Amino acid sequence: KFSKLEREAPDPIVHTMNQYFADPDARKVDVSIGVYKSEQGGSYLFPSVAKAKEILRNNDPGHNYTNMSGIPEFINGARSAIFGDDRAKQGHLASLQTISGTGALHIAFVFLREAGYTNYYLGLPSWSNYIPMIEHVGGKVQTYTHYDEVTRKVDFNSVIENLESAPSDSVFLFQTCCHNPTGADFTKDQWIQIADIVKRRQILVLFDTAYQGFASGDKDVDVSPIRHFYDLNLEFVVTQSFAKNLGLYGERVGALHVVVQDKDYVPNAQSTLTALFRQECSFAPAFGARVASIIFQSPELLQVWKNDVAEITERLLDIRKQIHDRLSKLNTPGNWDHVLNQQGLFWYSGLTPAQNERLISHHHVYSTSIGRVNIAGVNNSNVDYFCQALDEVVRN
Ligand code: LMR
Repeated sequence: KFSKLEREAPDPIVHTMNQYFADPDARKVDVSIGVYKSEQGGSYLFPSVAKAKEILRNNDPGHNYTNMSGIPEFINGARSAIFGDDRAKQGHLASLQTISGTGALHIAFVFLREAGYTNYYLGLPSWSNYIPMIEHVGGKVQTYTHYDEVTRKVDFNSVIENLESAPSDSVFLFQTCCHNPTGADFTKDQWIQIADIVKRRQILVLFDTAYQGFASGDKDVDVSPIRHFYDLNLEFVVTQSFAKNLGLYGERVGALHVVVQDKDYVPNAQSTLTALFRQECSFAPAFGARVASIIFQSPELLQVWKNDVAEITERLLDIRKQIHDRLSKLNTPGNWDHVLNQQGLFWYSGLTPAQNERLISHHHVYSTSIGRVNIAGVNNSNVDYFCQALDEVVRN
């Protein structure tokens, strides 16, 4: 029977990352998978996380099961991070600790199917895993243009047209900030317009939130669209990852929140989430969520975390400026202002597939096949090399 299985193509992002690892050349540059790297090019331990790990080491809670819907302190902190302390306490939320952002998305798709939502709208280009994940649980995906390749900005007309023409009860999957892969986010005004249409047309929004803080440097500012939706009394869903904004990649720390307007039905949503999670995972992993909880419960560590995120964002902006300066000095053909205008970890370079291929084959520079560059993979030591490589492939 197993001979009937097809050989699946690897995920394109993971494929490029693996190509990088396999390359023995000392000059190689990894700007592929979405992992924040330190200025030295290695993995980055958040000072807030380092301190929380130390506290946890000295207060070992042992290895028993936690709560099925998640560690309560973690859930409270995750809610506050998204909604702010006040909204988090108003009793409209059903929440679940999940296997990071991807696990949150999966349970969200299954939960929405249970609630009768199967029709999704997704702006392209987008994260390579969304469509397979939605289809995996029987959902249907209608795509539209999120990003205009010419203006190198959000194609807002396309977003509005689709919001206006989608059947009611469609689900629009939006990324809250730091759009992956384009770095092109909605403005505050655009979010207000989106919310108005969503409310009028009974569209359901799923906010995927994987890079909270990395757009503005302030976690609260980055989730203001979600808070705006909440304040309009809309029902919606939020998926949340702490992989990037706490640097807890392998620990799989995330959460799913469902905003329910009629408080009588919050227990229904909550018990549905818990039951679904029981069927798939039983209990979410404890270690990373405990580390996060220690930060969430300490005003002092919350401040350290705030500073960590602000510093990372500053460094990302600095790298963007350095790339822009170098390309200007090299007179690289084309306009490179979008490296400055796009937000977060990713720069959607606009290089063609052939140019990306050449970056790898001639220069050992690994951006993803669609030209998404993880800005954090560039640093003071390799920025010249990176820009010269880019210049060379553009001219050839
Ligand atoms: C990415 O887009 O590179 C990250 O979200 C990692 C992943 O799982 O794809």
